[in-house]
Amino acid sequence: MKANPHYLDLRGSYLFSTIGKKVAAYQKENPDKTIIRLGIGDVTQPLTPTIIEALHMATDEMAHAETFRGYAPDLGYDFLRNAIAENDYMKRGCDIAPDEIFVSDGAKSDSGNIQEIFAEDSVIAVADPVYPVYVDTNIMSGRCGSFDESKEQWSKVIYMPCTAENGFSPQVPSEDASGKTPDLIYLCSPNNPTGSALTREQLQKFVDYANAHHSVIIYDAAYEAYISEPDIPHSIYECKGARTCAIELHSFSKNAGFTGVRLGYTVVPYDLVDENGVQMRTLWARRHGTKFNGAPYIQQRAGEAVYSPEGQKEVQGLVSYYMENAKMILEGLRDAGFTVSGGINAPYIWLKTPDGMTSWEFFDYLLDKANVVGTPGSGFGPSGEGYFRLTAFGSHANTKAAIERIKGL
Ligand code: MLT
Repeated sequence: MKANPHYLDLRGSYLFSTIGKKVAAYQKENPDKTIIRLGIGDVTQPLTPTIIEALHMATDEMAHAETFRGYAPDLGYDFLRNAIAENDYMKRGCDIAPDEIFVSDGAKSDSGNIQEIFAEDSVIAVADPVYPVYVDTNIMSGRCGSFDESKEQWSKVIYMPCTAENGFSPQVPSEDASGKTPDLIYLCSPNNPTGSALTREQLQKFVDYANAHHSVIIYDAAYEAYISEPDIPHSIYECKGARTCAIELHSFSKNAGFTGVRLGYTVVPYDLVDENGVQMRTLWARRHGTKFNGAPYIQQRAGEAVYSPEGQKEVQGLVSYYMENAKMILEGLRDAGFTVSGGINAPYIWLKTPDGMTSWEFFDYLLDKANVVGTPGSGFGPSGEGYFRLTAFGSHANTKAAIERIKGL
């Protein structure tokens, strides 16, 4: 027996598991301390009444032979795919059909699994800093080369640095600098972790680049519900030409609070074909059918309820609630002299660590002195060093208390 060698290339445990272990160890040593967790982007507000009702109704259906459901269709129930197509695409003027939508148990699984349908030697480009799942899953597939300790980078990965100078937004990869052209470009907008968002014009540049270079954009739109500015697109399919170069990932976790319910979807348009004319949609459908037995009926009914008029109102309420936290964090940290960004179109606030501390030094400092947990920027990539992420997904009371504690340092 031999372990998959690529898994052995992974460096340490998954970022949020590392943080979880550190916090648990600190709590064990300091049982009297009340820790406020603004690290992982997990929601804290309960599911809303419309969702609860849909969950109950679907559960009740399971109790009767006439309405009982077994395996779900592996690509998703039509009632949900139709609701998604109508609300997330048609209403925005995007040309996406229900059978281009694949319902799943969440965007995390899809963002990790989607790379499987591309050639082993595909070159990936990622924003830096980046949601760690994109790189980790490509390491698992043996695509990233070796790790260069001096640069803190993988040798075969193209990094698109997001810095204060470019407003923490990735720029299309420069061929001169890397000498490589990416096959897969991962984008997340609004961005996790920096909270920045690509404008329509910036995103169109990526779409044009991808079409010109036969690259595919894997576009993570998990945070689109948090967009507040008009020139930020909610979907990549708002850009001209995206149907031939883009896959889009969506989640019900961050808008409707489904982190514990689990539901998401991925769009793979018919027009996305490889250089031999193979439809990538067919491969994803094949993969889904083979490795996945469909998201549960009960969850899909809850997903459908998100699109009802009441459901939409409730989602808006949740988003507003968390964005009030974002405002509180932004203003509080600014008052305390921190350099901060994000938090306008996203539930994440990106701050510069004070006094030249590294991201992990600041993590330890904040945990020890304020008993507040955040996420070290360097955990998301080398350009994240010297930065730190706070999430707006806490309760009002905890967010307020955390900011007071930080101000008091
Ligand atoms: C995060 O904190 O970055 C997110 O919660 C991770 C996720 O959504 O999987």
